[in-house]
Parts: sequence; C-alpha cells; structure tokens
Amino acid sequence: MDPEVIEVLTRLEMRDEQERAQGLPGAGRIQALHPDSARFLYVLALARGAKGIVEIGTSHGYSTLWLAAAARVNGGKVVTCEVNPERIAAARGNFAAAGLADVIEILEGDARETLRGRSEPVDLLFIDSEKSYYESFFDVVYRRLVKGGLVVADNALSHQDELEDYVAYVENHPNLESVLVPIGRGLEVSVKLEG
Ligand SMILES: C[S@@+](CC[C@H](N)C(=O)[O-])C[C@H]1O[C@@H](n2cnc3c(N)ncnc32)[C@H](O)[C@@H]1O
Repeated sequence: MDPEVIEVLTRLEMRDEQERAQGLPGAGRIQALHPDSARFLYVLALARGAKGIVEIGTSHGYSTLWLAAAARVNGGKVVTCEVNPERIAAARGNFAAAGLADVIEILEGDARETLRGRSEPVDLLFIDSEKSYYESFFDVVYRRLVKGGLVVADNALSHQDELEDYVAYVENHPNLESVLVPIGRGLEVSVKLEG
C-alpha cells in the first residue's frame, strides 16, 4: 500500500482510538471501522477482484480508503454514500491526501435515495451506517449485485439486537449464503448465488 495511504489510515485510526477512549458519543466520533475488519475487507475485495464497489456510510473515509486501495489494484472504483455534509468535506480531504480521490465517487444524501437509478454492476457492497436501514440499503443494491458478489455488513456483534432482522433476512434469503465473521465488531458476510 502507498505510504500516503498508510499515513492517512494511521492518523484516522489514532483519532478513532482516542475518541473511543474519551467515551465520546457516536455523533462526536469519526466512528471508523475496526482496523481488523478493515484489513479483512481489503483482503476480500482483492480476492474477489472487485471492481464495482459500493459503500454505505463514509464518515471521514477510513473504510473507503481501504476499499479504494483494493479498487485501484483491481482497476475499479468505489461509490461511497454519506448524508452528513461535514463528514463528506472531511472525507474529501482525506481522499485527496491519500491520493485516492480519482477512484472514489461520493454520493451525497440518504443512500436509500442516491443509489436509486444506478445500474453499474456491483461486486462488493459494504454497509456500515444507520442500523435500522440495513435491509433497505441491501434492497436498493441487490439487483445490481453480480453472481458471486459479496455483501459485508458491520456491527453484527456489537449491535446484535438492532441487526437481528437484517441477519435473519440474509441468512434465510434463498439466493444468498451468509456467515457471521467474529472479527472487529462482527461482520455479516453474504455471497449472491445467482446473478
Ligand atoms: C459508522 S459511520 C461510517 C464509518 C465508516 N465506514 C468508516 O469506517 O470510517 C456511519 C455513517 O453513516 C452515515 N449515514 C447515516 N444514515 C445514512 C444514510 N441514510 N445514507 C447515507 N449515509 C448515512 C452517518 O452520517 C455516518 O457518518
């Protein structure tokens, strides 16, 4: 990975760790993905050769940068969705500093709306956003997901109650195989069987 990407990732990891240690509420933190989950996601994206990557929940762009580093290797791009304008501005700065802005498109607004009408194939969908909308986020992208495409949803262990319906939904879906991976805050990983 390029040194400028590592520099931005390290800065964001340190900030997230400090904010969590201070006990700040979610809205006052950058809420970055757990570093172990981020590396796992990066490896998955590389292994899948994912070119079409969609992320829901950008915040300051920590997980986006991992996905974008893989997208660059794979010759693809990341479309990332965020509703908070201040976070979008911070993410833009981080994407530029990491030298990855050219492989990232930001959709500004509620992902349930901004992803409607898009038609490019999706190899990997990463959901790390408002917990009560996970099924809606999944639904708005599902038809674009290719055969063998992956859906990774964060917080399956840390927010088990809130994600109970989502997990039941993907684990009982006839066109998916799913598994809960106990890494970081818990990743629910699903693969689409038929396109
Ligand atoms: C946990 S944070 C994402 C962290 C990010 N993945 C990272 O690793 O740095 C969740 C983000 O989802 C955003 N969000 C909440 N509801 C949303 C929606 N309906 N559409 C798009 N983004 C949303 C929040 O503003 C917040 O920044």
